[in-house]
Amino acid sequence: MEKIRIRGGNPLNGVIRIGGAKNAALPLMAACLLTDERLVLSNVPHLADITTMANLLGQHGARVSLEGAAGNGGHVGRVMSLSAPEIADTTAPYDLVRKMRASVLVLGPLVARAGEATVSMPGGCAIGTRPVDIHLSGLEALGAEIEVESGYIRASAPGGLRGGRFVFPKVSVGATENMLLAASLARGETILENAAREPEITDLCECLMVMGASIEGVGTATLTVEGVERLSGARHEIMPDRIEAGTYAMAAAITGGSVELEGARLSDIEAAAAQLRKTGTTIETRNGGIFVSRANAELVAADVETDPYPGFPTDLQAQFLALMTVADGASVITETIFENRFMHVPELQRMGADITLQGNAAIVRGIDHLTGAPVMASDLRASASLVLAGLAAEGETEVRRIYHLDRGYERLEEKLRLVGADVERLEDDG
Ligand code: EPZ
Repeated sequence: MEKIRIRGGNPLNGVIRIGGAKNAALPLMAACLLTDERLVLSNVPHLADITTMANLLGQHGARVSLEGAAGNGGHVGRVMSLSAPEIADTTAPYDLVRKMRASVLVLGPLVARAGEATVSMPGGCAIGTRPVDIHLSGLEALGAEIEVESGYIRASAPGGLRGGRFVFPKVSVGATENMLLAASLARGETILENAAREPEITDLCECLMVMGASIEGVGTATLTVEGVERLSGARHEIMPDRIEAGTYAMAAAITGGSVELEGARLSDIEAAAAQLRKTGTTIETRNGGIFVSRANAELVAADVETDPYPGFPTDLQAQFLALMTVADGASVITETIFENRFMHVPELQRMGADITLQGNAAIVRGIDHLTGAPVMASDLRASASLVLAGLAAEGETEVRRIYHLDRGYERLEEKLRLVGADVERLEDDG
């Protein structure tokens, strides 16, 4: 196993290149199962979850290749080519699904194209129970028959899916994606209400439309999909990772530095930017990317409540909470999406943070400085918050179990080093 050692105190200054969005890439990759033609995705991030999805798609018969030679740092290619001339196997086994919940995104495309799918139930994870009931009731509304047996979801629609109306009982990113993928090949019109509006959904819609899908209402909570008989191949550039951008913006803020986030889009993180401004951080569009600075300003406390897009993203809650631990004043951070997304709190407390948990809210009283300590990563964004805390802390912080970070942040320590952080990846024998 590996760990990251951070010697805190250096303000970040310089340029950080933002990669393609993991959470857009995963459903886009699953879209290859909808067509026998080639889907070519560019701006693909190199992350563990992308490899997991590629392996799963391979299991179903897709050929997945990355253009570009394998160099010292692994593949340098950013362009992924996926083609599934035939669906070889409609089963997504437990061993692949348990590694990543987003594996459930193959369910919709497999039933739509092959008339059946058997997908392992993803189960819970560190941030909450995370059921898939909405994915299943949504597919039922399109005529699929669903059984859950021996830990597997069996979905079948021998005569093909047919359009239908479905009102999401709760906003769900993954279920909206699964439904869009399935409805694109269903017979007739599907109306999805209370759909998620995350930019990653818009990215998926745009790619599906290039593949020949007919979707109206893109970017809104009501999506109307007119199913087509077949979809074709397409080329699509994956949107920049707004959560990676938001994380580095907060890293700049917590260290009192100034960074330019090359390739990032401010419009995707407006809610987070608004809260950052309240903390005294400047954040604006510059050179086609985002410029963030807290070089000459006090860090002031601000409250946050997570919400589906366009609200403040749950995927930036842990990082913002870390920022608030050293702000002037007290803040309340309320998590409304996942019930257990405060795993970073006990670790931040070990670094001296003053945080009180009250149900789904954390009350953070800013202190003068954090103190470096050995800490344990529990999930992807919690790990990022510990890295941020380490960057600002006095002394040395070691973040263990960083395989969580590698699922969602490409070359994190390298990117941070380039802007002046003292960060190193080491073997962890402890
Ligand atoms: C996506 O997860 C993201 N993952 C998550 O990012 C992100 O935190 C989440 O959306 C919310 O923005 C990917 O895009 C791959 P949901 P997803 O369905 O789709 C409940 C990260 O750190 N729910 O929108 O799984 C659910 O439990 C990850 O990159 C049901 O009750 O999230 C949660 O409370 C972590 N039944 C809420 O809805 C269902 O069938 C929203 O979940 C589905 C969801």
